[in-house]
Amino acid sequence: GSNQLAQRPPMGWNSWNHFRNKVDDAVIRAQAEAMVSSGMRDAGYVYINIDDTWEASRDANGNIQTNSKFPDMKALADFVHSKGLKLGIYSSPGSQTCAKFEGSLGHEEQDAKTYAAWGIDYLKYDLCGLKEQMKAAASPEEAHKIMIDAYKKMDVALRNTGRPIVYSLCQYGQDAVWRWGTEVGGNLWRTTGDISDKYAKMAEIGFSQAGLARYAGPGHWNDPDMLEVGNGGMTTDEYRTHMSLWAILAAPLLAGNDLSSMTPETLALLTNKDVIAIDQDAAGKQGDRVSTEGPIEVWSRHLADGSQAVGIFNRHHTALTTTVDLRTLGFTGPVKARDLWKGELKNLNSSFQTTVPAHGVVFLKVSQ
Ligand code: GLA
Repeated sequence: GSNQLAQRPPMGWNSWNHFRNKVDDAVIRAQAEAMVSSGMRDAGYVYINIDDTWEASRDANGNIQTNSKFPDMKALADFVHSKGLKLGIYSSPGSQTCAKFEGSLGHEEQDAKTYAAWGIDYLKYDLCGLKEQMKAAASPEEAHKIMIDAYKKMDVALRNTGRPIVYSLCQYGQDAVWRWGTEVGGNLWRTTGDISDKYAKMAEIGFSQAGLARYAGPGHWNDPDMLEVGNGGMTTDEYRTHMSLWAILAAPLLAGNDLSSMTPETLALLTNKDVIAIDQDAAGKQGDRVSTEGPIEVWSRHLADGSQAVGIFNRHHTALTTTVDLRTLGFTGPVKARDLWKGELKNLNSSFQTTVPAHGVVFLKVSQ
């Protein structure tokens, strides 16, 4: 992004995965309060992002209006800011959003000014509604240009407001967005279709991210979609895989559960300090897959202190024992390995055996 924001992958919460259209002012206030009281804010989660379905149509001057669920967006932003948090919002470059609410087409400057006046700190801008115009284009090149121009337009509009607003491109990896996301001002860009609260979908998305590492870095991140941790559709081991993989991927960590009613176990998954530190590592280098052996995948991420985060993932539905050879990652002889989920420090040989739970992970921080 050209705005100097998001030097680390953004962390926060978004309403969509759990609340869908059942989001309103009271829900957002409750999430903000829970973000603070649970300790999540202090663990690094700062954005409270309202997704689709807040929009009403425009007034006579073309100003976007909120619907009855959000009586006063400025007051809501003030409340969120008073908690030491930031507020995000959602729109589309098309005339309509994904859920068929009012989009920003033809009102980009005006909407950006409105967001800034409300005190918005983050915009998720969803391609959805622009797809019709793109389909009507004479060629794929023209369709691509429609998309690029639309994203650039909002980037300029946001920067012209003078308010720091993180710019999130939601466009499903179309036309290999990682190649041009920075050029249109994106701080992050969705690389895939929508996640759901199922292991199969989460794994399909997460493990498909191999090869994208070089496109990410401070200010510009690949976004494999928001977290499902705590929504109930996966086992604890599966959610550990979700968190570990997202940390290796330097992915944004946007919780998608109901923070006001989460279990201690969910909170522990979301606030594991060691795992968050991997995600937020100062070098900002996304990790990648190192090897695959049947359902066992080893992924590694190089960290600022010279160590590596190593994830040994088991995609099979029963536990498996495997031999890991860290020499393929450049380690020789004995290593120090911190098991980030167990919180144990171990001395290991660079080749060692480990058992990985079904759909689970052994997540290590390894140094020579
Ligand atoms: C798309 C996005 C989701 C969500 C919905 C809202 O499906 O990918 O993350 O924003 O739109 O309608």
